[in-house]
Amino acid sequence: MKEKTLLMVKPDATGNGNTGAIIRRLEMEGFRLLGLRSLKLARAEAEAFYGVHKDRPFFPDLVDYITSGMVVPMVLERENAILSLREFIGATNPAEAREGSIRKDFGADIQHNAVHSSDAPETAVREIGFFFTEKDLV
Ligand code: CMP
Repeated sequence: MKEKTLLMVKPDATGNGNTGAIIRRLEMEGFRLLGLRSLKLARAEAEAFYGVHKDRPFFPDLVDYITSGMVVPMVLERENAILSLREFIGATNPAEAREGSIRKDFGADIQHNAVHSSDAPETAVREIGFFFTEKDLV
């Protein structure tokens, strides 16, 4: 079944000029790009986007970091998109990510890990809706 998911290129990767290379890999892997934006998140927006982590010790640092530069959220479609994208980007910590994965190749550490992707169907709906409306998507 075709699914939609959200991937967001984070400020380390946009700042290092890796956005294009990451999108290229996603397209080569069969993820179809349905929508794409670039923006800088306001603090309140970042707190809302990552609200599920608000009680975690790393939350303030995460919000500081994700608001520190440009992010590039995009909607991707493919068979089994949510799980296959998570597998393709690799583990949260680049040090533990699979060889050849996006986080291994473009991430530096657990915070500067190049990309975020939705972890479940309900999360994907919420995260896509956070950045896009229906008319934005092809
Ligand atoms: P992401 O997939 O965007 O979801 C939440 C982010 O919090 C995660 O990637 C990491 O970049 C960041 N983070 C920072 N520290 C930790 C940690 N100790 N455990 C999990 N995530 C962390």
